[in-house]
Amino acid sequence: MPLAMLLLLLLLLSPDSQTAHGHPLYTRLSPGALQVLSAQGTQALQAAQRSAQWAIKRVLMEIQHRLHECQVQCGERHQGVANTTRAHGRIVGGSTAPSGAWPWLVRLQLGGLPLCGGVLVAASWVLTAAHCFAGASNELLWTVMLAEGPQGEQAEEVQVNRILPHPKFDPQTFHNDLALVQLWTPVSPEGPARPICLPQGSREPPAGTPCAIAGWGALFEDGPESEAVREARVPLLSADTCQKVLGPGLRPSTMLCAGYLAGGIDSCQGDSGGPLTCSEPGPRPREVLFGVTSWGDGCGEPGKPGVYTRVTVFKDWLQEQMSAGPSTREPSCRELLNWNAREEEPFTDAPGLCAFYARQCLGSESSCARLALQQCLQRRRRCELRSLAHTLLGLLRGAQELLGPRPGLRRGVSAPARSAPSLQELPGHNPREQRLYSGSRIAGTWLQKPKPERRPETKGCPGLEPLQQKLAAIQRAHAWILQIPAEHLAMNFHEVLADLGSKTLTGLFRAWVRAGLGDQRVVFSGLVGLEPSTLAHSLPRLLVQALKAFRSASLTEGEPQAPWIGADQGQRLGKERQGQLQPPVP
Ligand code: ARG
Repeated sequence: MPLAMLLLLLLLLSPDSQTAHGHPLYTRLSPGALQVLSAQGTQALQAAQRSAQWAIKRVLMEIQHRLHECQVQCGERHQGVANTTRAHGRIVGGSTAPSGAWPWLVRLQLGGLPLCGGVLVAASWVLTAAHCFAGASNELLWTVMLAEGPQGEQAEEVQVNRILPHPKFDPQTFHNDLALVQLWTPVSPEGPARPICLPQGSREPPAGTPCAIAGWGALFEDGPESEAVREARVPLLSADTCQKVLGPGLRPSTMLCAGYLAGGIDSCQGDSGGPLTCSEPGPRPREVLFGVTSWGDGCGEPGKPGVYTRVTVFKDWLQEQMSAGPSTREPSCRELLNWNAREEEPFTDAPGLCAFYARQCLGSESSCARLALQQCLQRRRRCELRSLAHTLLGLLRGAQELLGPRPGLRRGVSAPARSAPSLQELPGHNPREQRLYSGSRIAGTWLQKPKPERRPETKGCPGLEPLQQKLAAIQRAHAWILQIPAEHLAMNFHEVLADLGSKTLTGLFRAWVRAGLGDQRVVFSGLVGLEPSTLAHSLPRLLVQALKAFRSASLTEGEPQAPWIGADQGQRLGKERQGQLQPPVP
């Protein structure tokens, strides 16, 4: 039975009016209507708790990432791996690197098909070439295959959360050919993948320094790609030499070149985005990333060294992107699809996820939060369409695989036969992930103040302190709802007493509301409809008021209490007598 019909029946069945001189002055909502209100209130409470837990979970994840990034040593190769990149090993032509030799080398895959190399530069960031994403910048389609271990430990495949091509990348000239890829989950410090070191300053090793390149790229121009990682040593060439041999296409401000003018050893198609690293001598030698494979004129041809994006020039951009707070950029599709907010949920707290949309809003806090929530939901709908397109593409690919090989496919790599994930498998629809979220018990014991979290050591880990402050602020703001265990999360509307003489233009009546949450009681005044349609209409506002009343009740707990608490505190309210609201004396 529709809600409106149910309410109509309930209202008609038990009118409860008070009369003066034979005219009704006040009426109470029937127990049935109160029950419906209570059920909706409980749902609103659950939604508010989920949203608070989600906000905390996000900051905890950021803290974890930060800590992880501070702990993991960069640029160290695994012990025991033959550390002898042969001078004549070739990516073009082919020598295989020992397994686990390049722990920062990753493979970027589009729909399971390997397309480019990449370099792990932090626990959740991969640096690669921007041209890899030309025409395919939908992060839902990409995955990253991390490095395998020195004993052949299996490589892990991670989903992509966000792709950030350099804003000045020029696909015509390959100027600024760099992109950052944010992983959905950071690499585990126990796993074989390790980040490379980024250059500290703007200094680069001098021309002639033998540096290393690695990747799964083609063995010769237009040839098949390699099944295993290949490596080679190539000397850095001076900017003058690069310009002389490669002409105006080489822009020394953002590109460097490396290789042999005699030809024969070079990176090639499929190696793009991969590393050009040089070892920094010292008691504990480390590898530092100076170039990202970008382009070349053929592969390994005499007088045509390979071209690499200069990493030192982009140091500031990289730092800025990797340390940016979540509210400084639009939520990604993966984050939005993982978010289980529902449009009809009437709580006003915009989750941290949507804060980006509220940052330039000049309205009141609640109208900005509403606006942010709306924009978040709008973008999520667009993301859903994208992921649907993704699913269709997967089905199409599956059908093509059944029908035989695609004639247009240039690369000789056979894609693992696997169809794209369906909507159900995407984050937010993934039962395992959902269990992770709903299973995290952040709520403490009923009406106990949450225990302060033990703070991890922040010394020497920049960016950790503000995150911890943010966490504490969120915990404080939401403590009132986080401390309620799920089984006690029930709102009870005990009484709604409406003043029949106060009908507004919109058909609502001033009413006094008495509600309870556990042993917490609040009384506030609001507007209520007494017909099915107006009652349904007034419901969301009443629920928001009730949530606010409970929040301020628990915040002022211990302080001398006003006889009533509510949104309309300026209003003259009914007094509670013998557990029932009494109309105010005129
Ligand atoms: N653009 C190529 C790719 O997308 C990389 C080419 C490198 N060529 C070279 N001769 N070094 O994989």
